[in-house]
Amino acid sequence: DGVAFVPAVVIGTGYGAAVSALRLGEAGVRTVMLEMGQLWNQPGPDGNVFSGMLKPDKRSSWFKNRTEAPLGSFLWLDLANRDIDPYAGVLDRVNFDQMSVYVGRGVGGGSLVNGGMAVAPKRSYFEEVLPRVDSAEMYSRYFPRANSMLRVNHIDDGWFESTEWYKFARVSRDQAQKAGLGTVHVPNVYDFDHMRREAAGEAPKSALAGEVIYGNNHGKQSLDKTYLAAALGTGKVTIETLHQARTIRQQKDGTYLLTVEQRDADGRLLATKEISCRHLFLGAGSLGSTELLLRARETGTLPDLSSEIGAGWGPNGNIMTARANHVWNPTGANQSSIPALGIDDWDNPQNPVFAEIAPMPAGLETWVSLYLAITKNPERGTFAYDAATDRAALRWTRDQNTPAVSAAKSLFDRINKANTTMYRYDLFGKQLKAFSDDFTYHPLGGCVLGRATDDYGRVKGYKNLYVTDGSLIPGSIGVNPFVTITALAERNIERVIRQDVTAA
Ligand code: FDA
Repeated sequence: DGVAFVPAVVIGTGYGAAVSALRLGEAGVRTVMLEMGQLWNQPGPDGNVFSGMLKPDKRSSWFKNRTEAPLGSFLWLDLANRDIDPYAGVLDRVNFDQMSVYVGRGVGGGSLVNGGMAVAPKRSYFEEVLPRVDSAEMYSRYFPRANSMLRVNHIDDGWFESTEWYKFARVSRDQAQKAGLGTVHVPNVYDFDHMRREAAGEAPKSALAGEVIYGNNHGKQSLDKTYLAAALGTGKVTIETLHQARTIRQQKDGTYLLTVEQRDADGRLLATKEISCRHLFLGAGSLGSTELLLRARETGTLPDLSSEIGAGWGPNGNIMTARANHVWNPTGANQSSIPALGIDDWDNPQNPVFAEIAPMPAGLETWVSLYLAITKNPERGTFAYDAATDRAALRWTRDQNTPAVSAAKSLFDRINKANTTMYRYDLFGKQLKAFSDDFTYHPLGGCVLGRATDDYGRVKGYKNLYVTDGSLIPGSIGVNPFVTITALAERNIERVIRQDVTAA
């Protein structure tokens, strides 16, 4: 009847999806991964796979007429953005009413566009956020497994202290210290040896050419080079690109039937396919997996899904801010696009903040110190299905970010006071604004572990249906999230393969 059957389907190719596919493949289970974005391995007309940050082209963005960079303005001028043709580019900005969410599109998901910061949360906070997960097991087994598979590495201290490319971070560290705040080195999946060779002129520049949010042409050990390469290496896993899963229904025999749209890179519909499978893993990210399940519940194709689907979403307390330094304190025209240092004030009982010292790789001196603060905001949003657009709409209001802004402000007020410096008000849009409170890089939640699923990501109400990605984490994790997403996926899939797949 034209329906292809495969034992297991994994939707998405981000962290949770990649872990699940590798372990299924190793267990001998034939697995198809469906990814709505492209495989990024073909050079464009300029010889590069990805377009750069300063002159982005259509490869940068997911079906936009104009790029939507997080720091679109400088002195209120829209300098960074460019008009482009709509195309299946690598970075998407999903604009809800009062919150925008950046996500990666392509084989590797967020790993293609993210800063590569690989941080395990403070154990006490992990226990607070996911109290029913055995943290001893996580910290002794699954976090180390994730770090090693992701090829997490550390910057050489001596090089960090001496290179012009991290002057911006050292300047921010000194200013934090003046305010009595400590900093920590942050591990990364970007190959720091490659970066040193870039600096020495021995390797093509990527991090040192400002590349990151629209993809790194070199140096970045994204999932296509780690987990996904290993998954394909099992000989059991295949990846279908430019395939977007649309609907999920369960058939009488308990298998799942998916409708999947295949498009070309310009967005033209090529085919609508049906694929059926016994085990279905959702790794489409917080927005993607939640939307698929919400649509299934609300349109009646999976009517027994719980009311918890769509609940418990948060932006991981993300707030961006920037300070203006004195003219005698430049941050450097040359800045690595890969962050390597964070201000760690998470143990502050009033206002816990972990602030990544972010580069501003503009290629000229800006005197700007930029930060991505991760705060502990208790506010949560909810997704609701909108039948008119067939999409999940996020119920989240701007003022829900007030606790996050005030936590960030309390930390950076201290730094400004100790250094007699001020905020920059021109970087986050056309109005005077010192804190970006309207976008996040870290969408978390929507199908929360232990609520919408059991304690291992098995979706409540259905057998052989799993969530594997950032939607399991209830809105906050206190640090950049991908190591946690990866480690949790490792823990869950181990149990699921043992109890549900090989036993069956
Ligand atoms: P992820 O979002 O990675 O993958 C989901 C995949 O599913 C995507 O490829 C998507 O195209 C696909 N998909 C969605 N719906 C689909 C459908 N219906 N059918 C088929 N495919 C579908 N984190 C961190 O720890 N350190 C950092 O430095 C940064 N920095 C950073 C910078 C920027 C610019 C961004 C946007 C994000 C970060 N992050 C980060 C966040 C990190 O990238 C993010 O938390 C993870 O990628 C989330 O992993 P998931 O597995 O949840 O899904």
